[in-house]
Amino acid sequence: MHKIIIDCDPGHDDAMAIMTALAHSGELELLSFCTVAGNQTLEKVTKNVLKLEEYLDLDIPVYKGCDHPLLKENKPQPAAHGESGMDGPVLPEPVKKEEAISAVEYYKQVLKKEEKVTIVALAPLTNIATLLTEAPECADHIEQIVLMGGALNGGNINKYAEFNIWHDPEAAKIVFDSGIKVIMAPLEVCYAGGILIKETKRFEREGKVSKLVKDLFDFYCRYAIDRGWDKTAVFDLIPVLYLLNKDLFTYKKGHVDIVLDGEDTQGQTVFREGEGDHIALIDADREGCMKIFFDAIDRLDQRYS
Ligand code: RIB
Ligand code: CA
Repeated sequence: MHKIIIDCDPGHDDAMAIMTALAHSGELELLSFCTVAGNQTLEKVTKNVLKLEEYLDLDIPVYKGCDHPLLKENKPQPAAHGESGMDGPVLPEPVKKEEAISAVEYYKQVLKKEEKVTIVALAPLTNIATLLTEAPECADHIEQIVLMGGALNGGNINKYAEFNIWHDPEAAKIVFDSGIKVIMAPLEVCYAGGILIKETKRFEREGKVSKLVKDLFDFYCRYAIDRGWDKTAVFDLIPVLYLLNKDLFTYKKGHVDIVLDGEDTQGQTVFREGEGDHIALIDADREGCMKIFFDAIDRLDQRYS
């Protein structure tokens, strides 16, 4: 059993990662959600988590985190996720509210209380870097950080970098240099474990959760379909799948350096194999990844039927 905190910026793929984790409550004890500015503004991504909670009738605490990177400017991504940050599904305005304390204050409190917590980081690392700067002693209570981020052979936001790292490279440097066990899921493994566009048709069926997933994919897959791709990555799914079944992945150990600036290089993750303890997931059993994801949505459809 892993005790996990999901640090996120929903985000279509964040939402699908969250649902997959929820379907595995026997292996993953989901303590909370912490939100951070990334795909959209802090307000919008927090609202998206609250909408998801209400749709799924959840009672998991939501903590609002940092509303901008440590040094860089906010760069929301409406092209990928829409103006709302989770365009596609029509979900009612949430009644549920976030908790009164900030995500960083929450981290300080929960990490002093809990023995070992896994942080599943699906967004820019601003919250975690702020925590480690303000309360470095909390690092001892973080078992590992399993994050979607980084790129080994080419970026999705500039020539070399992946969005989550690019958005707050200073934060990423603090996290990667912290000495905490980091498992990185870079772009390459996310594509290796991705979904075929034709597989998304399976969600066009009865089922409260399948309907939500269909509506999410209808918007999210436009980017791939417009480019003639037959497959897309559900990026944030990979850290959750890793926690559920490490055997689906191959990895390399090494050291990751973060490049802080440069039009083509801001956020670049320079991986030097064999020179450190960072774990970079390299390849994935795509069929195995999709089986866990599909079964998770089936389980939730049953749960909400
Ligand atoms: O580069 C992909 C990452 O950026 C994912 O976490 C996605 O949700 C966006 O945050
Ligand atoms: Ca995300």
